[in-house]
Amino acid sequence: MSFAESHTPASRASAAEAVLNSLPHTVVVVGPDGRIADANVAAESFFEASVTMLRRHYLRDFVPFGSPLLALVEQVRARGAAVNEYKVDLGTPRLPGDRIVDLHVAPVPERAGHVVVMLQERTIADKMDRQLTHRGAARSVIALAAMLAHEIKNPLSGIRGAAQLLEQSADDDDRTLTRLICDEADRIVKLVDRMEVFADERPVEREPVNIHAVLEHVKRLAQSGFARHIRFIEEYDPSLPPVLANRDQLVQVFLNLVKNATESIGHDANDGEIQLTTAFRPGVRLSLPGSKARVSLPMEFCIKDNGPGVPADLMPHLFDPFVTTKPTGSGLGLALVAKIVGDHGGIIECESQPRRTVFRVLMPKFTGYGAEPGGGT
Ligand SMILES: Nc1ncnc2c1ncn2[C@@H]1O[C@H](COP(=O)(O)OP(=O)(O)O)[C@@H](O)[C@H]1O
Ligand SMILES: [Mg+2]
Repeated sequence: MSFAESHTPASRASAAEAVLNSLPHTVVVVGPDGRIADANVAAESFFEASVTMLRRHYLRDFVPFGSPLLALVEQVRARGAAVNEYKVDLGTPRLPGDRIVDLHVAPVPERAGHVVVMLQERTIADKMDRQLTHRGAARSVIALAAMLAHEIKNPLSGIRGAAQLLEQSADDDDRTLTRLICDEADRIVKLVDRMEVFADERPVEREPVNIHAVLEHVKRLAQSGFARHIRFIEEYDPSLPPVLANRDQLVQVFLNLVKNATESIGHDANDGEIQLTTAFRPGVRLSLPGSKARVSLPMEFCIKDNGPGVPADLMPHLFDPFVTTKPTGSGLGLALVAKIVGDHGGIIECESQPRRTVFRVLMPKFTGYGAEPGGGT
């Protein structure tokens, strides 16, 4: 028997409301004129507006112009049958960001012309599946880096040497040209040097590392240098166990992320904020490509900034090498970060909207050197 039978209509309505409000998914009821008639608590946070505010608007005010959702609502109202649509992007200029949802639209038979819309945001695990492919991207650059290191540096030093010889007998005008050759050759060598990090496939030494000491060190480095004008906020879970890692590489990871965050905030901002958080989330389990096993990555480290955010068109390629929007950027920072995190058995994920960009690193828990059966959690 359902709980409804034992209730009066009024308490049944409030019970139904309570159920709707405890759902993690956005539910809105759309009236015959396209106005929002009702919405649950999840809808308030999804659309970043109160129920009262939502009820004063049309659904079309909250979704992108020409969104398939509007057509679906019309279709459901006309046909009286439910439809589903998957992976619809509901990001708008007002509510930017990665808002990929699954839509379930159904008629409300008890209320003529009303349609109920449920939005289900793509699950974290689902979003992460995409990010896992970045490991492959980092790998493909390894072979390239190794080739470049050998095939470019030698001829380059030849070219540079020849330019230096020419310089001795050149007049002033020509000397600017020979200088140019040397400077540009140096620039290429520097680039190749940076790429060699990728080619280095030697196993690194790992030990249990206190992540808070790493973050503290990174913060100190940043604050005494490039991030002087930034306010740092730390929210650490003091009970977090150590992570099995190479300390220097972890410093590299977080230094890169903090540097990017600082560069995104810019020099002129006076309200620049970077938040460092750590947490233990034993619930997150992911399946890795090519394997049925689900891994648990409960160690979560986040770097959050209030800069303008990652340009949307960059998002799908963010962790690829040579992706940069900076005039003198190398685009190797995040590729290296992704490689290191991947080498440690973890993943990195980015969520971005203006004034709220989060880079989230998830890592496995260190369960002691003698592999314990069951792996702890
Ligand atoms: N915190 C951030 N906020 C906004 N954009 C970012 C952030 N981090 C990285 N990006 C974007 O990602 C690009 C690639 O970053 P990265 O791989 O570190 O290369 P680089 O810093 O040399 O440009 C940057 O050029 C920038 O456009
Ligand atoms: Mg960078």
